[in-house]
Amino acid sequence: MKTEKELKRLNKYLEYTEDLLSDETVRSMTQYHHHREVTTHFHSVYVSYTVFRMCDRLKPKYERQIIRASLLHDFYLYEWYTEKHDEYHIWYHPKQAVKNIEEHFGKMSDMQRNMVMSHMFPACRENPHSIGAWLLTVADKYCATADYTGSSKKFIPVYEEINRRTMS
Ligand SMILES: [Fe+2]
Ligand SMILES: [Fe+2]
Repeated sequence: MKTEKELKRLNKYLEYTEDLLSDETVRSMTQYHHHREVTTHFHSVYVSYTVFRMCDRLKPKYERQIIRASLLHDFYLYEWYTEKHDEYHIWYHPKQAVKNIEEHFGKMSDMQRNMVMSHMFPACRENPHSIGAWLLTVADKYCATADYTGSSKKFIPVYEEINRRTMS
């Protein structure tokens, strides 16, 4: 988190997401566990930053919409290990995330809704329909694996800098 290039990149990510990251309900994801001790908040920031890095190379249309939907893809807002720890969580949580996003932040575009609904592909009812949806489902799997293997720890310095700038 030191080079000028990294700081420039972080600033661009925050241009897209700062208002969401400063939101109290988004912050509340820090209290929910997503992958063992990894919180839903850490995972969501990590996934959206990974999608953001992919967009840097691919330059898709609607980059801002893609990053914002990626940040909120697991906005289901419950402790699934104790409250809904069963096979239905996999099917249920994207739908709950869409409901919560639209209640808190207003209607998403069709592309964003499909991104959230299909992020568990192929274990979901909707298939990805856009480059953003494909980037999200790939990044989600990559980051989930990194969460479980512990390699997501390398993202901690970036995560802490993002929190320092948005939670003060
Ligand atoms: Fe998910
Ligand atoms: Fe996820």
